[in-house]
Amino acid sequence: MEKIRAIKGTHDILPEEMFKWYHMEDTVRQLCSRFGFEEIRFPVFEYTDLFARGVGDTTDVVQKEMYTFEDKGGRRMALRPEGTAGVVRSVLEHSLLTGVLPLKLFYLITCYRNENPQAGRYREFHQFGTEVFGSSDPKMDAEVISLAVSLIRAVGLKHFSVHLNSIGCPTCRSRYNEALKEFLRERKDALCHTCQDRLERNPMRVLDCKSPECQKLVEGAPVLRDFLCEECREHFESLQETLRAMGIDFVLNDKIVRGLDYYTKTVFEIKSEHLGAQSTICGGGRYDGLVEQLGGKPTPAIGFAAGLERLLMCIEAEQAFLPQPQRPQLFVAYLGEEANQFASKLIYQLRGEGISCQRDYMGRSLKAQMKYADKLSAEFTMVLGDDELERGQAALRRMADGQEFPVRLDEVAQQLKQIAQ
Ligand code: HAM
Repeated sequence: MEKIRAIKGTHDILPEEMFKWYHMEDTVRQLCSRFGFEEIRFPVFEYTDLFARGVGDTTDVVQKEMYTFEDKGGRRMALRPEGTAGVVRSVLEHSLLTGVLPLKLFYLITCYRNENPQAGRYREFHQFGTEVFGSSDPKMDAEVISLAVSLIRAVGLKHFSVHLNSIGCPTCRSRYNEALKEFLRERKDALCHTCQDRLERNPMRVLDCKSPECQKLVEGAPVLRDFLCEECREHFESLQETLRAMGIDFVLNDKIVRGLDYYTKTVFEIKSEHLGAQSTICGGGRYDGLVEQLGGKPTPAIGFAAGLERLLMCIEAEQAFLPQPQRPQLFVAYLGEEANQFASKLIYQLRGEGISCQRDYMGRSLKAQMKYADKLSAEFTMVLGDDELERGQAALRRMADGQEFPVRLDEVAQQLKQIAQ
């Protein structure tokens, strides 16, 4: 019978690779705790309306890339293409903004986008994201950027750059949109169909259209930074000063406009040289209007998300530190039926005392058991036979150098812990 294959653009993460994911996730959790961010989890699917209203119904993500479906009651739902809208929905639903502010949250989630798969671009992918609510202080922007940079440094990457821009508030944006529309109208016929529609409704989305023709046409378009109002300019300058004071290098990049509608003021991306076309490891920015747009009180907010597949690609390309995969501390081999029984009892007991241990369940000969122990990269092995059981004593053999340590069978855990010191 024909085998069923995984859906294009999705990936299994196999046991042999899992230690790399634990490494990234552990690093995220440790850093977030150090920065005072708390974890939040929320559903993989939400009402389509949340993303249409939150992310924006003229964005590529919502218009072209969202997986939508109807449930049996005819309600329109979507797999989350990103995390911000879901977090805002959850924060409002549970009145979290009435507590102590700023509210600093993070998440590790899967996201779904129906894009054309290529290296670094998938249909199911993983994000680490953060969202902070309640502060409009540019120093908060700097803290969020510093968390992104810290993560990238903590996993050992050196070849990355922080790209910074400000796309202003609705006031600056309306003046800018007029100038941009004027520029685009002259090129309208050459734009793709979707962008011809966007031109009048949301001209900024033309700037991040993925079609190479549209990308070419927008070269030389007016840049938003020239249209910033006084407040937005001051905010942006203050952020830059704080980043300089913190020693975080960045480059100003007019092209960073982000592909999602909710952004205001600060936007940033962290790019790597190792990723080719999909060079962005991490992107985010301020979204001071979104909470209100989704039914809450006006609340300033800022966040970012990093793609974990892309982060891992960079770690591997830069040969950054990856911890060794987990291996058993002890392999218990047996010879004879009585020792076979005792081995089960012993490993159960040792596991209870915090020792990771393994044994054979395939009826292997003693020689084959030792080969298996080698394959598992066990740190120590111990052979149990009638003689060892009778004496209540055996030998722990350190596989790295072959050294043996005598051990009483009721003191294996203590002895192992002592040798390891
Ligand atoms: P985003 O730029 O759409 O932002 O995605 C963030 C990161 O997710 C990207 O920089 C990239 O590393 C990864 N990513 C996006 N699409 C794919 C894909 N198809 N395959 C693999 N990785 C991908 C957001 O999602 C915003 N919610 C970030 C944010 C949070 N802004 C404020 N708060």
